[in-house]
Amino acid sequence: MPMIRETIVTTMSASGAVHIAPFGIIAEGDGWTIAPFRPSATIDNLHAVPFAVANYTDDVRVFAGCLTGRRDWPVTAADRVPVPRLAGALAHAELAVADVVEDAERPRFRCRVVHRASHAPFEGLNRAKAAVVEAAILVSRLDRLPRERIEAEMASLATAVDKTAGPEEQEAWGWLVEKVWRYYAERGDITIVPGTITSR
Ligand SMILES: Cc1cc2nc3c(=O)[nH]c(=O)nc-3n(C[C@H](O)[C@H](O)[C@H](O)COP(=O)(O)O)c2cc1C
Repeated sequence: MPMIRETIVTTMSASGAVHIAPFGIIAEGDGWTIAPFRPSATIDNLHAVPFAVANYTDDVRVFAGCLTGRRDWPVTAADRVPVPRLAGALAHAELAVADVVEDAERPRFRCRVVHRASHAPFEGLNRAKAAVVEAAILVSRLDRLPRERIEAEMASLATAVDKTAGPEEQEAWGWLVEKVWRYYAERGDITIVPGTITSR
């Protein structure tokens, strides 16, 4: 299996609207492959404007935020491609689409790196950050995974958050937990009464 790096990908529509979404970009030779499932604004944008920025950030609120309706993160111009980068990224890689492997379910946009830059020091690993990224992936699959598995994995990830989170990780975790409960409440699987949650 190739190495996958969890990033925030910025893309742009033909009219210049910036789209921000987490993607696990796939290492292939010297480049990176972006493989979004359909339907996807990222797919539409990469066809319209064949450039992207892979933003490397340890601010896990961006991962959790994008999955919970909070996509409005500050961006700034990139150096060599027309698509902006995340203003708060520790580092970024500017990508140009080299070719597209079309697929009915999950096309693959093979990209070459045209430029890289670093902006701020990486301050080390943190278990709560990793847990938030894992939970964000679970939230992106709420419609495809059984509720028992979501709840068991969230309960396991909560330990790392309880033990090691700072304020940013706590905020991001809270958004994800709320999204999970809201999803099952909207389906009628649970009832949320202030202070209690009742399973049906
Ligand atoms: C860490 C992380 C990695 C993800 N990687 C992928 C991916 O490789 N492909 C994909 O389709 N969605 C991935 N997702 C889910 C997308 O971010 C989410 O579905 C997003 O809205 C994509 O659709 P869009 O292009 O319309 O924004 C990932 C989510 C997270 C949190």
